[in-house]
Amino acid sequence: MLSLDAAFLAPHVTPELVAQQTDRLALAHATLTGGSGAGSDFLGWLDPAAMADDTLLDEIETIAADLRARTDVLVSVGIGGSYLGARAVIEALSDSVDRPVLFAGQNLSARYHTELLARVKGKKLAVNAISKSGTTTEPAVAFRILRALAEPGCIVATTDKNKGALRKVAGGAGWRTLPIEDSIGGRYSVLSPVGLLPLAYAGIDIRELQRGAIACARASVEPDPKKNPVLFYAAARNLLYQQGFLIEALASFEPRLHYVLEWWKQLFGESEGKNHMALYPSSVEFTTDLHSMGQYFQEGRRSLIETFLIIEDGEPSLTLPEGDNADELGYLVGQELTAINHAAYQATALAHREGGVPSLTIRLPKLDAYHLGFLLYFFERACGISGYLLGVNPFDQPGVEAYKLNMFGLLGKPGAKISQEELKAKVGAAGDDTIVGF
Ligand code: PA5
Repeated sequence: MLSLDAAFLAPHVTPELVAQQTDRLALAHATLTGGSGAGSDFLGWLDPAAMADDTLLDEIETIAADLRARTDVLVSVGIGGSYLGARAVIEALSDSVDRPVLFAGQNLSARYHTELLARVKGKKLAVNAISKSGTTTEPAVAFRILRALAEPGCIVATTDKNKGALRKVAGGAGWRTLPIEDSIGGRYSVLSPVGLLPLAYAGIDIRELQRGAIACARASVEPDPKKNPVLFYAAARNLLYQQGFLIEALASFEPRLHYVLEWWKQLFGESEGKNHMALYPSSVEFTTDLHSMGQYFQEGRRSLIETFLIIEDGEPSLTLPEGDNADELGYLVGQELTAINHAAYQATALAHREGGVPSLTIRLPKLDAYHLGFLLYFFERACGISGYLLGVNPFDQPGVEAYKLNMFGLLGKPGAKISQEELKAKVGAAGDDTIVGF
């Protein structure tokens, strides 16, 4: 279903070195599944079938069908884990999407939101406001801008069951709501109502997506890391980090995986980046980035590891046509573009390895709802185990608060913990002697 090729990790990581980690892995695995570790209140995602049972799936599909019947476009309003999962799946499965979903609330750009308003002008609009806390500034601002434009009865709030500003506003306005359980954090929520309503509206088979995740959950109980890619991947990252590697780049040769890479970065960055530790999760999109970051990968500072994400089958057939060979491509005539792209992957992995970048490859048989569900769950589970191996709580994000406190203070939010004066003084602390300009 999903396999890892670890040949290019040697000598840093070998099956023998991973096997030596079996006890630590078993402990991290038991800590996760037994709910005995830090953040164990946030394990609702571990069982994808329980996270969205049949009743909830029916409800989501019914709401999606109703919105589809009454509108032309859905704007999904959210940020971070309340945004990236749906976007990742919609872009990756673009060939299954038959109804547009646009995104708002993931930035505070006036230009972005002005252009979005122009794009939906004259269209029948549904709006799905998604925020677990219900108080996140970016989506709250975007939702305030958008909600008056929605068709009557076509606003859905996906939020905490009991608390938060969004729950309160939704109750007052009589909008339909979908619940986010206490036990599900944003970046582990793609297979909950957070991700599933926008996906169902787009026309994606959410049951297949969930089926793939369930299959991965079942397979992940295997305790032997040689037979369990979740454990092997978590162990390999940890071994490489201990050896001084600092950056993991998730590399794809498929542009429609762009937001899967973004989702992965959020998952690992927010889960592990604590106590001044962890691999920095980054991404590259090849072959595009071979002509930008490729130089750094080949010859820059040696602190990188690379994880290739490869789709093995199911791509459309497109062969190189005949020509007069003035472009010197005669040797490729009749070859599939997919095969040429695959050769680029093999060539890159080899070149980078010889340049000192160890890599592993995650192979997915094809990119459909089932396999994507499998992949997303694979990363979630690996992230939980990897976080416990590292010794952090993979389910909180205390560091995200720092900028919020400053922003609330600077904007003069009533009750802000830091005063506007104090912050303005700090922000303006750069004296004339530190400003350099023409
Ligand atoms: O993964 C997370 O928990 C975060 O990225 C949140 O999803 C993000 O901060 C948005 O939070 P909320 O859903 O409360 O608006």
